[in-house]
Amino acid sequence: MINGEPGKLERLSQSGFSLEYLEQIDSTNLELIRRSKAGAKPGLVLVADFQTQGRGRLGRSWEAKPKSSLLVSVLVKPEVEPEALGLVPIVSGVALAMAIEEVSGFKPGLVWPNDLFGKKGKMAGVLVESVFEQEELKAVVIGAGVNLWQKKEDFPPELQNRASSIFLETGKMLSRDQLLFPYLEQLDFWMKRLEQEEFLRIVEKYSEFDIIKGKEVRVMRNGGEIFGIGLGIDKKGRLKLWSGEKELCFSVGEIVMVRREKDVVSD
Ligand code: BTN
Repeated sequence: MINGEPGKLERLSQSGFSLEYLEQIDSTNLELIRRSKAGAKPGLVLVADFQTQGRGRLGRSWEAKPKSSLLVSVLVKPEVEPEALGLVPIVSGVALAMAIEEVSGFKPGLVWPNDLFGKKGKMAGVLVESVFEQEELKAVVIGAGVNLWQKKEDFPPELQNRASSIFLETGKMLSRDQLLFPYLEQLDFWMKRLEQEEFLRIVEKYSEFDIIKGKEVRVMRNGGEIFGIGLGIDKKGRLKLWSGEKELCFSVGEIVMVRREKDVVSD
């Protein structure tokens, strides 16, 4: 059961959110896509204890032991011009990073577009998926997975050196609700900034968390590799890189952060 303080639940419903808790589901993103196609309204929020087919970005899976994580998807319908939609993943990452900082005191870093890193590895990720109806955008699903309580041994062996959790970073055992409500409030606030076309404000806030700005990064695109120095994002949420000769811009691709000592991959 979601244990929200009444005031918080009231504020959430004033923001147009309605919350539903699921013990087990294939994926909260998939379920929201299905619900949206069946007529669910924007504002529906699904939280699950456990996912049997959790989805990550770039066709990967997202696995988490029961109740170890916050697994949440939010159905939204951003009232924006199509070219501003590229900022939805950015806004989602900012909202999650701000909520984590607010409740844990730990400031995560963002790796474009919205992987959240601690000092020990990736602690959260966001998967944004669009729902189309007759080629028209019907809604957008913002799915977030945050590792809350995991210890190193709770991750599969291949992830133990590059996955982290709020517990591993701070020693704090936060409940899902402690993070969920601030996250939804932040998401609501930043989605409104997007709808008000406050693009510069979004870019500035993102850059406070951007840990690849000024760093050498490698972008994999169409099977090829491109190296450059991170220059932040533009007003459409695209990644800017300095190639050594000119500025490059990426709206899709896979990014790997390169450190001199070793590579830290973004998953
Ligand atoms: C990533 O690859 O970094 C994104 C991971 C997103 C995982 C979350 S968990 C809740 C929601 N439901 C899913 O199936 N995926 C997202």
